[in-house]
Amino acid sequence: MSDNQALLDFSKEEKIPDDVIKHAAKLRRELQYHDQLYYDKAVPEISDREYDRLYRELVDLEKKVPALITADSPTQHVREKSQGFKSAAHLVPMQSLDNTYSEEEVLDFIKRLYKLLPEEKIALTVEPKIDGVAISLLYRHGILIRGLTRGDGAKGDDVTRNIEMISNIPKVLQGKVPTLLEVRGEVYLSKKMFLQLNAERDEEGLPVFANPRNAAAGSLKQLNPAIVRERHLEAIFYGYGALEGNSIPTQTAFIEALRSWGFPTHPSVNYARTPEEALEAIQCLGNIRHDYVFETDGAVLKVDLLEQRERLGSTSKAPRWAIAFKYESEQVITRLLAITVQVGRTGVLTPVAELEPVLVAGSTVARATLHNEEEIVRKDLRLGDYVVIEKAGEVIPAVVSVVKEKRDGSEKIFQMPRRCPVCHTTAIKKEGEVALRCTNPNCPAQLRRRIEYFACRQAMDIAGLGEAVVAQLIEVGLLKSVADLYHLHAEQLLPLERMGEKSVENLLKAIDQSRHQPLWRLLVALGIPHVGVTAARTLAERFHTIEKLSAASIEELCAIEEIGEIMARSIDEALRQPAMKALLEQLQGAGVNFGEEDPVVHAAEGPLQGTIWVITGSLSQSRDEIAEHIRSAGGKVSSSISAKTTYLLAGESAGSKLARAQKLGVTVIDEATFRALVAKK
Ligand code: IVH
Repeated sequence: MSDNQALLDFSKEEKIPDDVIKHAAKLRRELQYHDQLYYDKAVPEISDREYDRLYRELVDLEKKVPALITADSPTQHVREKSQGFKSAAHLVPMQSLDNTYSEEEVLDFIKRLYKLLPEEKIALTVEPKIDGVAISLLYRHGILIRGLTRGDGAKGDDVTRNIEMISNIPKVLQGKVPTLLEVRGEVYLSKKMFLQLNAERDEEGLPVFANPRNAAAGSLKQLNPAIVRERHLEAIFYGYGALEGNSIPTQTAFIEALRSWGFPTHPSVNYARTPEEALEAIQCLGNIRHDYVFETDGAVLKVDLLEQRERLGSTSKAPRWAIAFKYESEQVITRLLAITVQVGRTGVLTPVAELEPVLVAGSTVARATLHNEEEIVRKDLRLGDYVVIEKAGEVIPAVVSVVKEKRDGSEKIFQMPRRCPVCHTTAIKKEGEVALRCTNPNCPAQLRRRIEYFACRQAMDIAGLGEAVVAQLIEVGLLKSVADLYHLHAEQLLPLERMGEKSVENLLKAIDQSRHQPLWRLLVALGIPHVGVTAARTLAERFHTIEKLSAASIEELCAIEEIGEIMARSIDEALRQPAMKALLEQLQGAGVNFGEEDPVVHAAEGPLQGTIWVITGSLSQSRDEIAEHIRSAGGKVSSSISAKTTYLLAGESAGSKLARAQKLGVTVIDEATFRALVAKK
C-alpha cells in the first residue's frame, strides 16, 4: 500500500498526474483480466487475497480522486457472466458484500451501525461464508419456478435445469409456504466431491479445478444438466430477495422458516449482542470452519432485525447492514527440490513437486501434484524455486505460485519426459487433452496402479494386497495382468521377502474369497472412468450380469436415473476395448463371479428384512453409508419411488421424491425413526 500512498500525496494539486491515471487504468485492466479468468473461465491465476488487495487499492484510489472513476470500473458493478444461457431479471437485485480481512474494520462497521441507529440495541447474526456460487431461486406457492445465477446483479443466467439436478434443493416446499419467495443461497461442491472430481480429471488427462468454488461454478454453467447431476453439487440458503405472504421479523427467524420449508441452511448461526461477542463468534467460526463439508472463506455479519436493516439501506453495491470478514488462507513458502513423474492407472503421466517438508494448515507437506505440463509452464516453476504452498479445498496441498524475487539464477527449467519413466514407451497427448500418457498397456507402472485399485477396499477388497506387495509381485514377474492374481500359489510366494507362511496363507485366502464378491465390486474394480460404488451398485442391480451390461446400448444406460450420458459413454467405450475384453475373459476363466441371470437375493437377516427403501434429503451420514445400514439390516435399497417401495427415508429438504411418495401413499419416515427401526433386534 505504501506505493499507493505516495501516489496519493498529489491530492491537493489540481491536475491529476499522468502516473496516477495510468496506475488506476492498470488496476482496472488487471481486475478485469482476473474477473474474466474467475467468472468466465473458472481458472483464476491469483488468490482471492491478492484480488481483494488489487480491488481495495483501486477503491482507495477512486475514493481519493473520484474523477478517476470510469463507468466500466470493476468497482462500479457486481460481475459474473457466462455464455449459453438465457438471462432473466431478478425480482430484487442481488447485491454483493463489503469485505474485510481486519477485525478493526469489523469494529468500525459495528460503530457505524451504532451511529446510524443511535440509542438502539443492535443484534448481529454471524454465519459461515460459503465459498461457492451465488444463486437466486424463485418459488411460487411453494413450487420451484426458476433458478438464476447472480449475473450482473440485476439480471442472471437462467440455470433452472441445472438447479433441478441438485438433490438437496427442494423442488416443492413444505409447511405454511409464502405465496412468493425469491430465496438466495450458495451452490457448492463438498470438499470430498471436489477431491474425487479432480482425481478423476487427473486420471482422464483433463485440467483440474483450482478449488471447490471453481469446480462448482464450472459445473453450474454446464449446458448439459446430466453432467451437473454427476457432479453432486449441493446448496445452502441464507437470504431472500422478494418475499410475499409471510412476515418474518429477524434473520434468525428467517433461517428457521427456511428450515421448516425444507431448505438446507447453515449448520451454525451465531448471535452477537456486542462488538466483543461478534469478534468471538468470528474466531469461533474460524476454528471450526475446516470441519465443514464445504469450503468457507469467511464469516458474514448481518443485522438480525429486518426492520433495522430497512432503515440502514444500502449503497449502490452492498448493504450497510452486513459485512464479510474473510479468513486468511494459510500459505507458506518452501523450496521445490525436484519434480518426479508418476504413472497413473490409465497411463497419465503426472508431475509431482518434491518439496522441502513444511507445516501447512496442521500437517506436514512434502509433495504436491502439479497436475500436468501446462500448469508448470503457466506458473513458471523451476527446480530450486521458492514456492508458495496452500491447501486447495483445505485438504490437498497445492503449489500456488513462485516467489520470483528469491531466484538467484541457479534455478533450472523442468522438461516433462517424452517417454514413460517406467517402461520408456513414447508418451503421447490425445487431442483436446493436456496430459501426456504412456500408451503401453503392459506398462508395469500402470499395471501396479490397476492391481492396487482392483484390490482396494471399495473394489474387490483383498486384504493383504497393499502397495508394497503388489510392487514386489510385479517386480519378480508373478503378476503380468490383474487376472494373474488368481493363479498365484504358495510355493511361488513363500521364497519372497517379507512373506511368512501365515501371511501367504491369508493373502491366498483373501484372493480366493474375492472370487465370490458381488458383481458391483467387480464393476468398481475394473476401473471404468466415472463408475464409482454407487453407479456400480445401480448397474449390477439393473443388469445382473456383465454379459447383459456389455450388451446394453448407450440409450438403455442413459435411461437409468443415476446414469448420465458421460458415464454411459464411458461404460460403453471401456467394455468394448480389446484389452478389457481379454481381461474379462481371463477373470471369468479364473472363476470370478460375473453375476447371475436371476440373482437370488441373499439379503442379510435383520429387522428390515423384506422392506424396500428409497433415501432422499440430507441425513447425518452419506447415502452410501445409510444404504449400507439398510442392507445389513436385511432391507433393499432402490433409487426411485414406486408402488413397491416400503419406506421413504426423508432427511432435511427432501424434494420431488417426497412429493411422489406422498402421492403413491408410501410411508415416509425421518432419520430418528429409521435409527430406532434398525436398532430393533
Ligand atoms: S448474505 C446482500 N450470507 O458471499 C448480499 N452471503 O462476498 C447478501 N455468501 O454475495 C449476502 N455465504 O454469494 C450472505 N452466509 C452468507 C453467505 C453469503 C456466502 C456469498 C454470497 C455473497 C458473497 C459476498
